[in-house]
Amino acid sequence: MEKKFNRTLITTALPYANGPVHIGHLAGVYVPADIYARYLRLRGDDVLLIGGSDEHGVPITLRARKEGITPQEVVDRYHTIIKDSMEELGITFDIYSRTTSSLHHETASEFFRRLYDTGKFIEKTSLQPYDEHAGEFLADRYVVGTCPHCGSDRAYGDQCEACGTSLNATDLINPRSALTDAPVTMRETSHWFLPLDQYEEALKKWILDGHKEWKTNVYGQCKSWLDLGLQPRAVSRDLKWGVPVPVEGAEGKVLYVWFDAPIGYISNTKELLPDIWERYWKDPETRIINFIGKDNIVFHCIVFPAMLMAYGDNFQLPDNVPANEFLNLEGDKISTSRNWAVWLHEYLRDFPGKQDVLRYVLTANAPETRDNDFTWAEFQARNNNELVAILGNFVNRAMVLTGKYFDGTVPAAGTLAEVDKALADAVKEVKAALSANLDNFHFREAIKDAMELARLGNKYLQETEPWKLAKTDMERVATILNMAINLSANIAIAMEPFLPFMSKRLAAMLGMESMTWEMLGNMDIIPAGRRLGTPELLFEKIDDTAIQAQLDRLAKIKEQNKIDSFKAAPIQENVDFETFMKADLRVGTVLECTRVPKADKLLKFLIDDGLAKRTIVSGIAKYYEPETLVGKQVVFIANLPPRRLKGIVSEGMILSAENADGSLVVISPSAPATPGAQVK
Ligand code: MF3
Ligand code: ZN
Repeated sequence: MEKKFNRTLITTALPYANGPVHIGHLAGVYVPADIYARYLRLRGDDVLLIGGSDEHGVPITLRARKEGITPQEVVDRYHTIIKDSMEELGITFDIYSRTTSSLHHETASEFFRRLYDTGKFIEKTSLQPYDEHAGEFLADRYVVGTCPHCGSDRAYGDQCEACGTSLNATDLINPRSALTDAPVTMRETSHWFLPLDQYEEALKKWILDGHKEWKTNVYGQCKSWLDLGLQPRAVSRDLKWGVPVPVEGAEGKVLYVWFDAPIGYISNTKELLPDIWERYWKDPETRIINFIGKDNIVFHCIVFPAMLMAYGDNFQLPDNVPANEFLNLEGDKISTSRNWAVWLHEYLRDFPGKQDVLRYVLTANAPETRDNDFTWAEFQARNNNELVAILGNFVNRAMVLTGKYFDGTVPAAGTLAEVDKALADAVKEVKAALSANLDNFHFREAIKDAMELARLGNKYLQETEPWKLAKTDMERVATILNMAINLSANIAIAMEPFLPFMSKRLAAMLGMESMTWEMLGNMDIIPAGRRLGTPELLFEKIDDTAIQAQLDRLAKIKEQNKIDSFKAAPIQENVDFETFMKADLRVGTVLECTRVPKADKLLKFLIDDGLAKRTIVSGIAKYYEPETLVGKQVVFIANLPPRRLKGIVSEGMILSAENADGSLVVISPSAPATPGAQVK
């Protein structure tokens, strides 16, 4: 058993307010943090769950530029969406604030200024990409050019999305500004650096010696960083959007977003509890836990702790950083920019009242030890086969049978038989396993434990068959249903951290006014004589139509992404002029157009070619209604040898262009032309 603290500060990575939150964020950070917070509250601990939006940084300015609005408008929009949707999902933040708040600006400024005043920074001059046209330094993301690895001409200064290599802006061939397309030049600029190397020994001791119990992925990443040796890191940037560097002569410079954002945890605690916030940050009796995704490990385990060490003043380091791996969606990496995600606010709109289903699926399949995949098929299966068929089913049977045989009043238990005692013991064992898994951040195992209670319940009813005993032994039936109702109460408690909406409804049906972790494991939570509420189904089946609608949406997005990433085919080998001139291209007017029976791709045209009427068959039936083409003008090749297609002799070829998604559009003159006119 680890040391028992009774005050815990839980932080959750502050999501960038450059888009809504998606299932990846939820599975990695917010759902596990909320489970943990709810569990500790049930235990009676003093807990704070801190959240907020990360509203600085280049991705936000990029989004603003793309949409033609200000960064403030971007963050206002997404902060609201994020905050509201997380609340609706039942994430019980004690505060969800934002890094554009004035309190945060003050706090982050003061933090920087103290490090500056006490000589904790080094100042260094370096060459940085600059846009002469815009008169601005360019963040790496704003530099575009050719990737030195794969030759893609759309690589960014921090990464090539075509081949996945991470880059520096200086690696790009022909770097250009994403703002003005001007060639990028390099200019001298000076910045403040936190010399991480000076904290290396302390960090090694703290993590490598002191926190061997951390998750292996977290410990391993820290170890490889520390083994490589730490370098000074710039903590300021030449940017307009952010917390201004509070130093004379630093106009046009802001704090690097990864410097200010983690200070947001402190600002938000201060905003919530202006008088006693220090208790949660500076008292060694408080335990600090950071919930994050794996891409945030270095900032939470190395950079921010070094900042706190530099600041001093008793700031405590985290006790644990249970970072998760990534969740993929239907086999592909989730991506905000490619819209490849299930967005929380859209889920809540499409599946109203089904918060617990999402919480359940994301927890049962959480990417705790490796990357995992979210599929809609699994979502449906887990709902129908587990929540409905196991959990909902057991509780419903217990309630309905009590209604039937005891008019909805909990009967008193008589002497316990072996099977009853075995059930009571099993419930206690589940509690022990569940608590241990929760203590160790093994939420995927933990939710299985909680589910085990419902499995035990179904098995118990199957074995004892109270519906058969009802004719002969009502005393046994009374005992069995008393047990079943009390098992349901245990389920309400054990599931509260995971499925809080279900838990609340179940508790109401059982007439439970309060619940604590202490009560869990007991079979006398609901006293005999209590009148139960009306049984209600806790979960309902999700049908194929709802799932298909989600799959269709994703298929559309895939199509759109194909279009967005379309790259024109390379130009073909030269053709000599004489050969080209041999092709007789002409304008014709469509007189008739009909579908070709038994050929879903083909349309049959009758064309006025200026000399006669000619028949041409063209493979564009998927993209046009034939009637809409009558009267239009097209361009065709007039001197191809006739060809037989589906029994029709086609005298030429109509020209059309093939789009990124494979669709075809017919080429027409931009103004009416004389039928038979040659195209030159
Ligand atoms: N916005 C960052 C991300 O989404 C996380 C910031 S966590 C904090 O990756 F500690 F900096 F707040
Ligand atoms: Zn590349």
